[in-house]
This record gives sequence, C-alpha cells and structure tokens, in this order.
Amino acid sequence: MKKKYLLAPGPTPVPPEALTAMSMPIIHHRSPEFVPILESAKNGLKWLYQTENAVLIMASTGTGGMVGSVTNFLSPGDKAVVVRGGKFGERWSEICEAYGVIPINIDVEWGYAVKPKLIEDELKKDSSIKAVLIQASETSTGVAHDTEAIGKIVKNYPNTIFVVDAITAMGVFDIPVDKWGIDVCITGSQKALMLPPGLAFVSVSEKAWKMNETARCARYYFDFKKERKNLEKNQTNFTTASSLVVGLNAVLGMMKEEGLENIFKRHLRLAEATRAAMKALGLKLYAKENPSLALTAVEVPEGVDGGKLTKVMRDKYGVTVAGGQSQLKGKIFRIAHLGYFDTFDIVTAVACTEMALTEMGHKVALGKGVAAAEEILMKY
Ligand SMILES: Cc1ncc(COP(=O)(O)O)c(C=O)c1O
Repeated sequence: MKKKYLLAPGPTPVPPEALTAMSMPIIHHRSPEFVPILESAKNGLKWLYQTENAVLIMASTGTGGMVGSVTNFLSPGDKAVVVRGGKFGERWSEICEAYGVIPINIDVEWGYAVKPKLIEDELKKDSSIKAVLIQASETSTGVAHDTEAIGKIVKNYPNTIFVVDAITAMGVFDIPVDKWGIDVCITGSQKALMLPPGLAFVSVSEKAWKMNETARCARYYFDFKKERKNLEKNQTNFTTASSLVVGLNAVLGMMKEEGLENIFKRHLRLAEATRAAMKALGLKLYAKENPSLALTAVEVPEGVDGGKLTKVMRDKYGVTVAGGQSQLKGKIFRIAHLGYFDTFDIVTAVACTEMALTEMGHKVALGKGVAAAEEILMKY
C-alpha cells in the first residue's frame, strides 16, 4: 500500500466535508430542492469575493471562465493589454487572438512581477484599449502580480475594464474585488475552493456589464447576461454541475467558519514555511519577487533531472507535486499550499523533497528543510 498525497496547485485535496456532501444522491438542477442550494452558493461566493456584484457559476474549468471574460465584454478588433509573465498570461493572449481581440502584450521576464507603470504607459498611449488582463497569481512561475496597484490605475479609465484571473489567488490571499476595482474576476473550483475541477466563478461589475451591451465577440455557451438573468432566479442557463454546487456550499461553510483573515494567515504561514525549508536545503526559489502564497516554485538543482525528480516523488513516495510548464519543464518543481492544506502537508512535501533529491544523488542534509519549516510552523 502506498498512501497518496496530492500537493499540486490544482486539483487540490478535497476535504471530507465536501466529499460527503457530494456523495449524496444527485439533485435535479431544476427542482425546488436545488433552488436554496444555488442561492446559498451564490451568496457565499459574494462573501468570498468581497463584492456586491453577482458571481456567476459556470460548469467549466477556469479556462472557460477566462474565455467568457473576453467574449462577453470585447469585440473583434478591440485592444486589450495582456500581462504575459507566464503560461497563464500567454493563455490570455491566445484567447484574445482566438476571438479577434488584439492583445497588446507586456512581456514580463518569468519569475518577476509586472511593473504596474508599464500598464499605465500603455493606457496613456492608447485611449481605445478596452481591457487589462492579468493573473493575480501566475501559477506557472509562482509569482503574484500587484493586483491592487493595477486596479488603481485602470479605475481612472472609464472605458477600460480590469479583468483578473484569480484562479490560484481567490481564497488564498486578500482579493477584495470591489475595493480594488476589479471588473471581472475569475476563479475555479479545484484550487483554494477545495473541490474537484468543474466549476468556474466569475464576478462582473456594472462597468463591465455596460461593455457587455455592445460586445460583439461570438459566444453561446458562455453567455454571461443569460447566466446573470438565470442566477437572479437561482437558476443556471444550462445544466450545472449540481453535485459540485452542493460541495461548494460545504466548502464555503468551512471557509466562513475559518474566516477570511485566518484563511489568508494560514496560507501565509504555509508559504513562509515552504520557502524557508527550500532555502535551508540550499535550493533557489524561482519567484524573484512577489512570491504567491498559493505555491512555491523551486529551481531544480544542477545535475538533477527535474522530470525524474517529480516522478520519484510521486511513484516512490506517493507525493504529487507539479513540475514546470513550457520553458520551465524539467527546470522547476512546484509545491502547492492552497486550499485544504495545513501544517503536515508542508512537512510531508519538504521531507519528500529531501528524500527524493538524496536518492537522485543530490546531497542535502536530511531533516534540515523540515526543521526550517517547523520553526516557522510553530511560530504562529
Ligand atoms: C492562474 C491560472 N489560470 C488559469 C488556469 C486554467 O484553469 P483550468 O485548468 O481550470 O482551465 C490555471 C490552472 O492551473 C491557473 O492556475
């Protein structure tokens, strides 16, 4: 027998409270029984997002939410500033191109956060820019962009919306959507929301709804206006992933009980412990600034086969962490600490890193990383 540990930045582990709730007999999504369930979920999401606006619930992964966030507010030929500091920034650009929106790419060296002034410069140069698209947490590099600062800039442009992929940020660190002027904010079920993949959530501001009236990108499944109308009646446009919505209520209940402040503090504590552990082992963190609290990206040391390292961790020890994507394939590994994560998930991840590296001939002092993590984990 080998016990398995899912320590990757999505899908993340699902707590027993949600698993139990979702194992109940399926409820018909048009039945009166489902109405209060959806109502409670939609209200819970508003709490999580710290918004007065509706948060739409889409049966899709996060990328579906991203696609809808372009097609519902923009038209072919519109320009959008895209921060490309990793694989998911590139995805924004690719989605724009797929729908005829012209991306104005701000290429950021991977491992770094965008300088907000670069976005301001673009907006000053061209008043026809309709949107700014960023990641609050760029999961491929483990870097967080300064969402608050960028929000302050975009707020000054009445015809430009601020669209934030918060897929590994919402429920990890503070993203007060209304306060920071985020017009469209996306997250997914399989990250900090501790559910299986299958739901995307998107909040939409009044400023964005105005743009929706004239947006001409082709859309059918992801029609946010229809979703909003349905959600007002505690319905969804199409069949929703009703079991996941049941699970959503369970996790939102857990999150409310913990409280936003405590949730953010827990993620900070786990992130700090992971970073300290990796440094104690002589490993380099990939994020050179603004490390995200959702995950820690670590450079694979010289002479170690990165692809093999994550395989050894998974196949020999049962620990699934993520490798690098695209240009970082084999060069980094990523330890998650978002969602249903606590003290001993970090101890496990660090211990496994030590054992796997040692096994692959890269000498580290066994227990040194664990000790460094424990120091932080015992502090608060
Ligand atoms: C920041 C970010 N954006 C977008 C996505 C894509 O989400 P999905 O895989 O749910 O479509 C991910 C998934 O890891 C992500 O981390």
